[in-house]
Amino acid sequence: MLRKCSSNFALLIIAVVLLFSTTASYVILPPNRTAMAAALSSFNNSERQALIQSGWWSYYHNLSNSNHCYWIGIYCKTAGSVSAIDGSALDINSKFLLLQNLNLTAFPNLVSLNLHGMGLSGSIPKEIGTLTKLAGLDLSDNNLHGELPSTLSNLTQLVELNVSFNSLSGIIPSTLGLLDELEYLTLTSNQIEGSIPLELGKVNLKYLNLGSNQIGGSIPAQIGNLTSLFALYLSNNSFSGSIPFQIGALTQLQELYLEFNQINGSIPSQFKNLSNLQVLDLSYNKLSGVIPPQLFLIASLNSLLLSSNQLFGLIPSHIANTNISYLNLSHNKLTGPIPFPIHTCSSQLTLDLSYNLLNGSIVSQTGCVVNLNLSHNSLSGDIPSTFSVNSMMESLDLSYNNFTGKLHKELANLKYINLSYNSLDFSQDTDYCYFQQESLIGCNTPNFASCHSTPKTMLPHTSKTKPLLLIALPVTFIIPILATLLWARRTKSRKIEVERTSKNGDLFSIWNYDGKIAFEDIIEATQDFDIRYCIGTGAYGSVYRAQLPSGKVVAVKKLHQRESQNPSFDKSFRNEVKMLTEIRHRNIVKLHGFCLHSQCMFLIYEYMEKGSLFYALRIDDEAEELTWSHRVNILSGAANALSYMHHDCSPPIVHRDVTSNNILLNSELHAVVSDFGTARVLDPDSSNQTLKVGTYGYLAPELAYTLSVTEKCDVYSFGVVALETIMGRHPGDLILSLFNSSNKNIMVKDLLDSRISLPLCQKDAQAIVQVVTLALACLRSNPKSRPSMQQVAHELSNFKQSSLSLPLSEITVHQMIA
Ligand SMILES: *[C@@H]1O[C@H](CO)[C@@H](O)[C@H](O)[C@H]1NC(C)=O
Ligand SMILES: *[C@@H]1O[C@H](CO)[C@@H](O)[C@H](O)[C@H]1NC(C)=O
Ligand SMILES: *[C@@H]1O[C@H](CO)[C@@H](O)[C@H](O)[C@H]1NC(C)=O
Ligand SMILES: *[C@@H]1O[C@H](CO)[C@@H](O)[C@H](O)[C@H]1NC(C)=O
Ligand SMILES: *[C@@H]1O[C@H](CO)[C@@H](O)[C@H](O)[C@H]1NC(C)=O
Ligand SMILES: *[C@@H]1O[C@H](CO)[C@@H](O)[C@H](O)[C@H]1NC(C)=O
Ligand SMILES: *[C@@H]1O[C@H](CO)[C@@H](O)[C@H](O)[C@H]1NC(C)=O
Ligand SMILES: *[C@@H]1O[C@H](CO)[C@@H](O)[C@H](O)[C@H]1NC(C)=O
Ligand SMILES: *[C@@H]1O[C@H](CO)[C@@H](O)[C@H](O)[C@H]1NC(C)=O
Ligand SMILES: *[C@@H]1O[C@H](CO)[C@@H](O)[C@H](O)[C@H]1NC(C)=O
Ligand SMILES: *[C@@H]1O[C@H](CO)[C@@H](O)[C@H](O)[C@H]1NC(C)=O
Ligand SMILES: *[C@@H]1O[C@H](CO)[C@@H](O)[C@H](O)[C@H]1NC(C)=O
Repeated sequence: MLRKCSSNFALLIIAVVLLFSTTASYVILPPNRTAMAAALSSFNNSERQALIQSGWWSYYHNLSNSNHCYWIGIYCKTAGSVSAIDGSALDINSKFLLLQNLNLTAFPNLVSLNLHGMGLSGSIPKEIGTLTKLAGLDLSDNNLHGELPSTLSNLTQLVELNVSFNSLSGIIPSTLGLLDELEYLTLTSNQIEGSIPLELGKVNLKYLNLGSNQIGGSIPAQIGNLTSLFALYLSNNSFSGSIPFQIGALTQLQELYLEFNQINGSIPSQFKNLSNLQVLDLSYNKLSGVIPPQLFLIASLNSLLLSSNQLFGLIPSHIANTNISYLNLSHNKLTGPIPFPIHTCSSQLTLDLSYNLLNGSIVSQTGCVVNLNLSHNSLSGDIPSTFSVNSMMESLDLSYNNFTGKLHKELANLKYINLSYNSLDFSQDTDYCYFQQESLIGCNTPNFASCHSTPKTMLPHTSKTKPLLLIALPVTFIIPILATLLWARRTKSRKIEVERTSKNGDLFSIWNYDGKIAFEDIIEATQDFDIRYCIGTGAYGSVYRAQLPSGKVVAVKKLHQRESQNPSFDKSFRNEVKMLTEIRHRNIVKLHGFCLHSQCMFLIYEYMEKGSLFYALRIDDEAEELTWSHRVNILSGAANALSYMHHDCSPPIVHRDVTSNNILLNSELHAVVSDFGTARVLDPDSSNQTLKVGTYGYLAPELAYTLSVTEKCDVYSFGVVALETIMGRHPGDLILSLFNSSNKNIMVKDLLDSRISLPLCQKDAQAIVQVVTLALACLRSNPKSRPSMQQVAHELSNFKQSSLSLPLSEITVHQMIA
């Protein structure tokens, strides 16, 4: 990204710089060639040659007729020798620039060298050691490789060294301990290994940042020698061992970051000596023991992060007086109830105690706590209504505990509330209607369907009137403007819509065999089936996402030109249209339109945002979103569709290709069965002998020796899909071993998808047991002994209410094979 300026413009800048420059050692160049040549030769020295050779200034200045002391980023002492080079001022960043291109030996008087963010590659040359007057060296944010040269020890005047954000490797040279003047050392984000050299203890560092490297070993006790340090970053390395108590000597320290290491042992109580400490981050380590109460007595401490360790014991009662405003103790093993800071309210507190072992009940006064997260603990008892009234609380997460009792509608005033997975009693009144459904999910969910009459508005709240008053004024001005804008937009979009409809007709109601009308809109929406709109490709065609002028999104399956010549593909396309125009069910993919013509072979379906079940199970992020109850609902939906085809259609229809790939999910995880290309009407008057179709891994075993197709082939495939959904992956050969009596001890819990936690609710556990039992019945090798889809669908939508005789974790697969 080299910038080019016109040379006239560059000369003008030089002239201006010269005019206003206070250093009078160079005269303004007169239009006198003799004088110009003389002046040039007077500064034709080795420094100038080195700058010209680097090539870095050639785009900014006419190198042959200007004084290098006035080039961008070059500063000279009065004697004319370069004292500072600031390459970053050139604003160039190119991976083609090499640090080696600047001849460092040419600048004996250089005090400051700043080459940050230029994209420089290569290594740091050992010649750097010749810059013995250097006080500041910044090579950060480049692509430098190799090791830190030991010749850095020659830079005895160095105060500041920053080589962060490069790809430097090797160890920290112990010779850095010879740099008496060094105050700021920044090696962040490289690949530096080894340990901290003890010699660093001799240096008078104020700022040390070694974060995001691969430095290991223990933190040396000599760290206690660095008594001038005000910031220490050792985060995101491989430090192990315990924190040396000598750290208590760093009394100037304001920020200490040790997170993301392997540090063990307990938190030294000597931290109390650090009376200037503002931030202490020890999270993501292996610290154990109790939290030293003294930490809460550091008056200056603002943020304390101890999450994701193995701390245990009680939360010190000193927390009640703390001035900390961000306290994160989550993901530990803390116990007891919770003392809230109530006495002093000099700051507002965000408190995260989630994922601990806290038990007992909670108190009603929360003082200065603004954001409180107590989720994933074992708290019980009532949730006091006063939690939000008369307090500063804005967000509260109490999910995954064991709170009981009545739900107070006052809590609905909070900006954010989550009470999911508790044992609250929703039977007595309808206060839950004041809450969002998402905040009350769990094993016993309230019946929101009965909430129509209750207004879902916030209650008037005295303490919240202040912000209301504040925004009242602007709103009176803004609303009319907004309203006008919205009205204008609406009329505009409605006009367009009307135009489109009258021009193109309604694609979704016209079943149009010649395809002219559909064709235009689809071609436009997919820019003639541009690859950018393609969301999937199968054996015979591709699926595209098309947003129609009305805003509606549809999926378009297009048969490739070449494949449309293939009679079997053509047949399967026409078969799908025939099937889907005859059957309609909420769990069968909706066909909106189609075009069957030699010029355009495509089908238009409802768009299923989440894609296939296969995809949702394969991608970890998606699979984690699929809870046990989602998975059971998906299977129940698919079973309903197949039951409808087998039992409510006459003659019955068999799908013949039931796979996780052919079950699609929308954004609400509602499931539909798709791909009816090979579906077949079972003709009672014929033998139903047919070619073998379907997908390997889902085919019923009898299809190996018979060509006769029955509904029970779909039942078998459904059994495979059911196991796959519960396991999170295709069961493969496991199907055979499950039925082998020598494998009596396979546990159900070991089959379950390990990416989501074991079911918390008895209801979910019961459902999983039932799904596995049904799946095993569907997979029986004798087709006649498999249940019908009607039975399967019925059982999946009407779960037994009885509780399990054994905990889920103790049930074997063998116990479920009836
Ligand atoms: C140009 O500069 C030289 C040396 O400074 C001087 O001798 C000469 O007279 C100048 N020529 C003109 C045309 O000014
Ligand atoms: C500057 O010096 C170099 C050699 O050091 C020489 O090649 C060049 O011609 C000189 N330029 C001027 C303008 O004197
Ligand atoms: C740079 O300056 C020299 C000497 O004044 C001149 O001959 C040359 O044309 C200039 N170059 C550009 C690109 O302007
Ligand atoms: C670098 O500069 C020094 C001092 O001017 C000179 O002796 C040396 O030849 C230069 N090296 C290169 C590669 O140009
Ligand atoms: C170290 O500095 C001295 C001058 O103080 C110089 O002579 C020597 O060449 C430098 N060493 C290196 C390796 O650059
Ligand atoms: C070091 O360089 C990085 C990247 O350029 C910069 O963000 C940081 O502020 C610098 N550190 C110091 C202490 O100057
Ligand atoms: C610690 O500092 C003292 C005095 O500043 C110095 O004498 C001693 O060598 C240092 N110790 C270490 C291990 O660096
Ligand atoms: C930790 O360091 C690695 C490189 O060593 C880097 O990729 C990663 O982003 C860093 N993580 C954090 C949380 O800073
Ligand atoms: C902590 O401070 C006390 C007194 O202020 C001092 O005696 C003690 O040595 C300090 N501890 C450490 C580890 O520096
Ligand atoms: C801390 O880890 C080291 C290994 O890194 C081990 O030798 C030591 O026993 C551990 N200490 C504690 C208290 O767990
Ligand atoms: C909190 O801050 C106040 C005022 O800055 C101070 O007087 C008090 O001692 C501090 N409390 C604690 C526990 O540090
Ligand atoms: C929840 O509390 C009830 C009684 O209040 C108790 O019977 C039940 O075991 C508790 N559940 C858990 C998981 O602690």
